Amino acid sequence: MLNKNIVWHDHHVSAEERSALKEQIPCVLWFTGLSGSGKSTVANAVESRLLELKKHTYLLDGDNIRTGLNKGLSFSDEDRVENIRRIGEVSKLFVDSGIIVLSAFISPFQQDREIVRSLLAEGKFIEVFIDTPLDICEKRDPKGLYKKARNGEIPNFTGISSPYEAPLSPEIHIINYDKSVEEAAEEVIDYLKNRGYLNA
Ligand code: ADX
Repeated sequence: MLNKNIVWHDHHVSAEERSALKEQIPCVLWFTGLSGSGKSTVANAVESRLLELKKHTYLLDGDNIRTGLNKGLSFSDEDRVENIRRIGEVSKLFVDSGIIVLSAFISPFQQDREIVRSLLAEGKFIEVFIDTPLDICEKRDPKGLYKKARNGEIPNFTGISSPYEAPLSPEIHIINYDKSVEEAAEEVIDYLKNRGYLNA
């Protein structure tokens, strides 16, 4: 419930002025996919490419954010919803500041991703589905977490004991097991180029 004693202040400097100074069109690249699907890896590669193109970016990453802003949130359904709600709000602030945001979270629930989309203006939320089948993620198991989850050591593990709802119509759909990281990153860059996001 919003406190009725809180009053919104308009800023003197507008979002348009901030992004014009940076000569770019701010937006959120929202990477979603299973643990081990390659979200962070591809997001990092995209961020490096954007840096080469002189774009101002910031990468929000699940594991890292959970050591700070979202420290203390668990992997219950309820806490995952709160995790994504906060990241959505942070992403919105970054977009307002003129930054291109890359968010890499499992974000397993369709409804939560749609809530983040609805926080932003049309065209500002770009859903990037990093689509790697569960058996491949499990084989990669970069952090050894699937093994632990199969042994019952991690409750509510996405794909094993907690659901993952794949995006229905993501802006960018990357099948991420038959290509290099650079190729996957280029698919994202191509999308941004073709849609005029990099032409400001
Ligand atoms: S989300 O579901 O709330 O969006 P988030 O992206 O923040 O997840 O964090 C996922 C990361 O936390 C995984 O990559 C993994 O390293 C770690 N992790 C720890 N426990 C779990 C769990 N039960 N399910 C999924 N990931 C987990």
